Amino acid sequence: MVKPLYENPWYKALVLTLAPWIAGAALAQADTPSRELIQRGEAVSIAGDCAACHSEPGRPAYSGGHPIKSPLGTIYSTNITPSTDAGIGDYSLEQFSDALRRGVRADGRQLYPAMPYTAYAKMTDEDIEALYAYFMHGVEPASEAPPETELPFPFNLRFSMKAWNLLFLDSDPFEPDPERSEQWNRGAYLVQGATHCGTCHTPRNALMAEKSSQALAGGSLGTWYAPDITDDPETGIGGWSRRELVDYLRTGHSGNGATAAGPMLEAIDLSFSRMPEEDIEAIAVYLLPEAESEAPAEPASAERDAQTNIGQLIDDDTPAALDDITPGERVYRDQCAACHAPGGQGLNGLPALAGHPVLDKPNADNVAMAILEGVWPEHRQGMLGFADELGDQQIADVTNHLMSEFGQSDVRIDTARVAELRAGGAPSSLLMLARVGMGVAGIVVVVLLGVWLSRRRRRRTR
Ligand code: HEC
Ligand code: HEC
Ligand code: HEC
Repeated sequence: MVKPLYENPWYKALVLTLAPWIAGAALAQADTPSRELIQRGEAVSIAGDCAACHSEPGRPAYSGGHPIKSPLGTIYSTNITPSTDAGIGDYSLEQFSDALRRGVRADGRQLYPAMPYTAYAKMTDEDIEALYAYFMHGVEPASEAPPETELPFPFNLRFSMKAWNLLFLDSDPFEPDPERSEQWNRGAYLVQGATHCGTCHTPRNALMAEKSSQALAGGSLGTWYAPDITDDPETGIGGWSRRELVDYLRTGHSGNGATAAGPMLEAIDLSFSRMPEEDIEAIAVYLLPEAESEAPAEPASAERDAQTNIGQLIDDDTPAALDDITPGERVYRDQCAACHAPGGQGLNGLPALAGHPVLDKPNADNVAMAILEGVWPEHRQGMLGFADELGDQQIADVTNHLMSEFGQSDVRIDTARVAELRAGGAPSSLLMLARVGMGVAGIVVVVLLGVWLSRRRRRRTR
């Protein structure tokens, strides 16, 4: 009698060996998103600049550990590689979406808004899905755990962020404006969402939330100052041409003499310079006044021309007798003139300081920060910081020399502010409050919450 095939031991052995492999391959097929989706996710991660905070030199990509100094203490970014023990390998798409758009971790606890989920809340489901595919399948798992974040009481109580979110997290999805062009809407979506310009450029209230009524009107990051980028022609960038803004965002240099330093330069190097040019054009169309946006971007004006023009405006004054000059001018001649030229008009492609837009800001923090930290562009010559060479008084003196002589500005900086910038910024008034004792800040949150709820109720009953 012939036995049925499935009773043949050889056949059984073969099936038993192959079955898991076949099943595994079928499962993997169902699980692995298309290459195209992963690549789209990578592009979203570049626009969102995830690397700025989640990658740290000397550690594997995206394994976290980047210290973010907040006025409340240091917050460490976490490992967002697909490692299942140290990273987010176990996150479902929904948990990932909640972390990005609602500020809730997989374990249900709240994230600190040092992670810009208030901006990412505007991202579409499609972008979140692509981003998830990239982090699950396009990033190498790394098992290094970052240091733990320890904030002082009451900020160590993550649930207090729930009240904060209730007050300040606008989780409505992005609404395109049907009256505007597709390009304008693309720009609005990117600025409000992934590229999170407001995280730096919008001033914050006493509870460190962005003041939505003053979107992009300029805010201090504690040290660097992110200037007004509204379309106001006086205080903002309303006077910039589209080409100037596009060049600035793609290269950190602009025909109007602006150069980027500090966190803006980092965002340009890691993110904006790597985004598709259409997206940067869309951002410029959204940010600039309508009339300017309608005009097509004129071809890049040679930046050197602009600098020479500025240079010609300043007469290269013959050096005065040495004891005649101010302390600020002396520092400038000793330390700066070799690169920026005695009259501030720039040399050999190095930037002009005369008429530089950094000198027409409401404070001189960025000038002092550039002198303290230096300027470090990825693909050009940079400038070493002078933190070790120059004392607070000398930095204040040379900063004020630049403000008055090259910027015709009345804004000045004092040595106390330079010392504060050197130390990493002013301590938060919130922290002072918290230190006073029984979580006064927690009480403030509760009181504000009450005010907000009653206002909302009133609005409803009206
Ligand atoms: C400005 C800095 C910053 C940027 C930019 C940023 N993150 Fe974060 N992210 C953080 C910090 C800080 C934390 C941890 C916050 C905490 O401990 O409460 C975090 C936490 C997370 C978490 C939660 C992980 C966990 O611990 O369970 C995820 C997921 C995440 N980020 C993904 C992203 C992605 C994706 C991007 C880019 C689209 C991004 N982040 C951009 C700072 C940032
Ligand atoms: C991480 C913080 C940060 C983010 C995010 C950021 N900026 Fe900035 N930005 C700054 C800082 C700081 C400066 C000042 C740089 C300097 O003085 O060199 C600046 C300068 C600028 C300037 C020059 C303004 C002037 O008057 O000189 C423009 C324009 C600008 N940013 C546009 C943007 C846009 C558009 C986005 C989003 C697509 C953005 N920034 C995102 C921090 C940021
Ligand atoms: C070795 C040459 C060199 C020296 C010396 C030097 N700088 Fe610079 N500086 C640069 C370069 C290069 C940049 C801009 C890099 C870029 O964006 O391409 C720059 C940029 C700047 C900026 C613009 C920062 C911003 O916000 O964008 C300021 C302000 C400045 N320098 C001031 C000074 C002062 C003040 C001194 C003297 C204390 C000084 N520099 C000395 C090379 C130099």
